[in-house]
Amino acid sequence: MAQALIRPARETDLEAMATITATSYYEVDARTFQRSWPDPQPRPATRNGAWIKRTRQALVTDPEGCWVAEVDGEVVGGAISRVRELMWILASFAVRPEHQRHGIGLQLLAAAMYHGRSCLRGMFAASADPGAVRRYRLAGFSLHPQMFVTGVVDRGAIPVVERVRDGSAGDIDLLNSIDRQTRGAAHLSDHELLLGQFRLLVCERNNAAAYAYVDESGSPCLVAGTSRRTAQDVMWEGLGSSTPGSSVSVHHITAANAWAIDVGMAARMSLHQSGYLCLRGMKPPSPYVHHGSLL
Ligand SMILES: CC(C)(COP(=O)(O)OP(=O)(O)OC[C@H]1O[C@@H](n2cnc3c(N)ncnc32)[C@H](O)[C@@H]1OP(=O)(O)O)[C@@H](O)C(=O)NCCC(=O)NCCS
Repeated sequence: MAQALIRPARETDLEAMATITATSYYEVDARTFQRSWPDPQPRPATRNGAWIKRTRQALVTDPEGCWVAEVDGEVVGGAISRVRELMWILASFAVRPEHQRHGIGLQLLAAAMYHGRSCLRGMFAASADPGAVRRYRLAGFSLHPQMFVTGVVDRGAIPVVERVRDGSAGDIDLLNSIDRQTRGAAHLSDHELLLGQFRLLVCERNNAAAYAYVDESGSPCLVAGTSRRTAQDVMWEGLGSSTPGSSVSVHHITAANAWAIDVGMAARMSLHQSGYLCLRGMKPPSPYVHHGSLL
């Protein structure tokens, strides 16, 4: 096999990288999913667009965190990472299946991690791929199994929640403050990306606050709060907005966030396990359910 060239990622690499991540993640899902789960589907074209948009932004904010591997002039893998305040975040990491196990991932990860050399903390969500998890553990990250709840929400279980409202860009200072108290670093410009893709829910009550980004199905894909109660309220509000009879899911729940499992149980959703939250220099954040790539 020819030697891989590791070089900074460019705008012109985005389409190829989107295809590589979609292909490699789908291949892992197809290899590792449990029999009782629905068959995995490749990332739909609509979400490919969101991936490209997020990564294009990373090329601007974190050019030194974004790397690709080339073999014979063709992009075969990439690693995209960000630094937000004192936190290093790995957003995407993939090598085309036919080029895996040749040490390309090791070189890409080393290049991306160098971007975070001054950070106190590191955080990212890992797939269930044993090769990826091996790389992460050997790089010194602690591994925290992630659970998810999925199913049709029992409408009769939805409580009345008070003081939850739709949020907007005017809430970003509040969101950053909640981020600092929960995960130890603000999302900063990543909130603009999240606001562009998802509905924002905000809850402010007494001395506590929480927010959730919710996708078009009603699935909360990032929940952060300064109290478990407010975090549960925004999670309920998201689940309550799902179409009756349609299935919704909340991914990336660590054992430190039993409050989110309790909401899923009360909604009569089922609990499963997939992948890991990988951390360095910190404990699993709580009350916090992270986004898959922006954490
Ligand atoms: C994770 C990934 C990027 C690593 O790329 P790569 O080029 O294969 O990485 P490397 O060859 O440097 O390292 C892979 C390591 O895992 C090992 N490995 C691979 N499959 C394995 C398995 N089933 N069980 C145990 N170890 C395994 C390899 O032997 C190698 O370890 P070694 O160097 O100590 O021998 C690539 O496998 C991939 O794209 N996976 C699918 C997408 C994915 O899950 N990405 C991570 C998202 S968080």
